[in-house]
Amino acid sequence: MSTATRHFLFLVTSTREPGHVGNTEWLARQAAASLPEGAQQTWLQLAAMALPPFTDQRHTAGQYPLPEGDMKTLLDATMAATDIVFVSPVYWYSIPAPLKTYLDHWSAWMRVPGLAFKEAMGQKRLWLVSTSGDRAKAQPMIDSVQLCAGFLAMQWSGVLWGKGGPPNAVAGDADALAAAAGFFRTE
Ligand SMILES: Cc1cc2nc3c(=O)[nH]c(=O)nc-3n(C[C@H](O)[C@H](O)[C@H](O)COP(=O)(O)O)c2cc1C
Repeated sequence: MSTATRHFLFLVTSTREPGHVGNTEWLARQAAASLPEGAQQTWLQLAAMALPPFTDQRHTAGQYPLPEGDMKTLLDATMAATDIVFVSPVYWYSIPAPLKTYLDHWSAWMRVPGLAFKEAMGQKRLWLVSTSGDRAKAQPMIDSVQLCAGFLAMQWSGVLWGKGGPPNAVAGDADALAAAAGFFRTE
């Protein structure tokens, strides 16, 4: 794939108040400054979107209609991207609720007639940018995200992790900053 056709979708999933840039988004933006030349980028703030809870009707209706509203915006952005970047702090050794809701809806989108969501996802890369109190505590969440990529046969492109905490804490993590500069140039 030529770099000119790359389209990176950044899904920011911190629940910081509107207008407050969290550590994870800040680190992701450092990395995005070195995106391949010609790459498009789209940033969405999941906590600011109206995301309905997922309902499991896999074994009743067995299929789902196309979503509406913000969930349709997310589906369209997901389908349009070549590269999906979860910009996700660690919450309770896992992912924040807005990202979990989005992920649960993948189970619906796999069952929208004619969408071929699973086949489309198998052509995409999944990246993770994360911050937390310490690296060891992030591992279960990293493993979980990698397993999700594997389930949809996405190419797992790895994790950029930084030491977070209060706002701007990650700016003091020199290792994370050095890794950010080369993160999207790894292939
Ligand atoms: C609800 C919640 C749960 C958290 N759980 C963990 C955790 O399990 N392990 C950890 O190391 N840090 C945990 N943290 C700390 C955050 O991962 C850390 O402050 C992170 O840098 C926040 O990212 P942000 O600034 O992008 O919002 C938690 C923070 C919140 C708000």
